[in-house]
Amino acid sequence: MTSFRINGRPMTVETDEQTPLLWVIRDEVGLKGTKFGCGIGMCGACTVHVGGRPTRSCVTQLGAVDGAEITTIEGLEPQGQHPVQRVWRDLQVPQCGYCQSGQIMQAAALLKDFPAPTDADIDAVMSGNLCRCMTYTRIREAIKQAAQDMAGNDA
Ligand code: FES
Ligand code: FES
Repeated sequence: MTSFRINGRPMTVETDEQTPLLWVIRDEVGLKGTKFGCGIGMCGACTVHVGGRPTRSCVTQLGAVDGAEITTIEGLEPQGQHPVQRVWRDLQVPQCGYCQSGQIMQAAALLKDFPAPTDADIDAVMSGNLCRCMTYTRIREAIKQAAQDMAGNDA
């Protein structure tokens, strides 16, 4: 049995501990916002936060998150009002949308580490999140705007 909290809710599952966390999130917990892209840790579509850190859930075994706090796109801000989500909407970042929950989770973590990120910071942290629709320019713009919005709220 593996116990964890997901979006603030305690859960215990009996799934094999070697099962990728992604499938537990989607199939056992029923949260479908976290996507399957490559399955080998190379695209970022499956990014969630584990203990507040961006984590590729497709290559994270269930057994590794025993006792952990997990946040998915559905729990980043329950009403979808995280500053990154607001800017994503304002700037209409998504195209097909498939990669975007992973992009948002990665960007939210980035802004905790880099409150005023440079282009180099953004490129370094976001380079593992791929987008087939090539929304990279809007993603970079949105991250900078979210940083400004968050700094404004702190002032
Ligand atoms: S599906 Fe996990 S990194 Fe691609
Ligand atoms: S918006 Fe289509 S893959 Fe990124």
